[in-house]
Amino acid sequence: MNGGIRFDAVSVAYGGNTVLDSLSLTVEPGEVMALLGPSGSGKTTALRAVAGFVRPVFGRVFLGDRDVTALPPHKRGIGMVVQQYALFPHLRVEDNVAFGLKAQKAPKGEIPGRVAEALEMTGMAAYAKRYPRELSGGQQQRVAIARALAIRPNVLLLDEPLSALDAQLRSGMLAELARLHRELPDVSILYVTHDQVEALTLADRIAVMDRARLQDCGTPQELYRRPRTEFTASFVGNANLLPVTVAGRDAVTLDGAELALATSGVAAGAAATLCVRPHLVGLGDGPNALRGRIAEVQWRGATHRLYVEVGGHRLKADVRELRETPALGDEVTVHFAPEDAVLLGAGVTDG
Ligand SMILES: Nc1ncnc2c1ncn2[C@@H]1O[C@H](COP(=O)(O)OP(=O)(O)O)[C@@H](O)[C@H]1O
Ligand SMILES: [Mg+2]
Repeated sequence: MNGGIRFDAVSVAYGGNTVLDSLSLTVEPGEVMALLGPSGSGKTTALRAVAGFVRPVFGRVFLGDRDVTALPPHKRGIGMVVQQYALFPHLRVEDNVAFGLKAQKAPKGEIPGRVAEALEMTGMAAYAKRYPRELSGGQQQRVAIARALAIRPNVLLLDEPLSALDAQLRSGMLAELARLHRELPDVSILYVTHDQVEALTLADRIAVMDRARLQDCGTPQELYRRPRTEFTASFVGNANLLPVTVAGRDAVTLDGAELALATSGVAAGAAATLCVRPHLVGLGDGPNALRGRIAEVQWRGATHRLYVEVGGHRLKADVRELRETPALGDEVTVHFAPEDAVLLGAGVTDG
């Protein structure tokens, strides 16, 4: 294997405190892998282990076939972009971009061409002579990306690269990053974010982290449609999570009411969690109907978010904008299709 990143049971500890716990994960050549998780879950630490800024206490890091665990950062040939642009304020854009090339001792004659190419790719060619302070935040981040690309890395590490930008700029930059990746189809990208929209938009696969551990890994569609854990279900998209008891083959009960969904071989009597996405819960009668009362209504433009009190549970339903907004306390029926619900926990196996 020429490119790609492989974590082989990598653990990192600070002062005896394990902040990355036996991470095993492979990023294929040319793949965009998002590391998604809440703050403090170990994402940056994992990235820094690839870059060589932290040394694992256990495990090995591979770039392609090469074990780089003991290699210093500048010998790894990796491009890295962090949240706070981190440009050198006293250097012009072109010299910022040339920095990695000079550090790498690239042939002098090649440097201007490589700098121009990287600035071209990020749409910053017209700004080569400027200083960082003469650029907007978004432009500075483009320069940081150009600097990372100038060394023509096989591996690009991005640590929350858009989180310092405002929302509108962020979505534009997301599209830019997707385009860049299409132009560099062989580069493996590890993209750290706590923002599920960024992960869902950009990543070929998402690795979900929580409390120093990898919780789940799959394509955005897999994680969204078939989450394996409650954590993934609620962190990737929105979820209704209901405590149910398996009643038999493809049947569960919620407070005694029977509901149909695939039970994947879980034994009757087992406690489990039913997960159904709010936009797959419909208003009115249908399969898996539940009676409840409107507890809250939020208008969200194209949709209404209804909170429905069913027994002791509060169900979220995102329905198409309603002509007549239901009133608080109204009695309603909601329903969902058996194939739109997933059973989680209690010995549920893949399949
Ligand atoms: N240099 C450090 N020294 C001590 N603790 C650290 C250091 N860097 C990170 N940590 C701790 O490691 C944990 C994971 O941090 P980090 O990888 O930065 O998380 P994330 O990027 O997911 O927010 C946190 O609890 C953080 O406080
Ligand atoms: Mg971080």
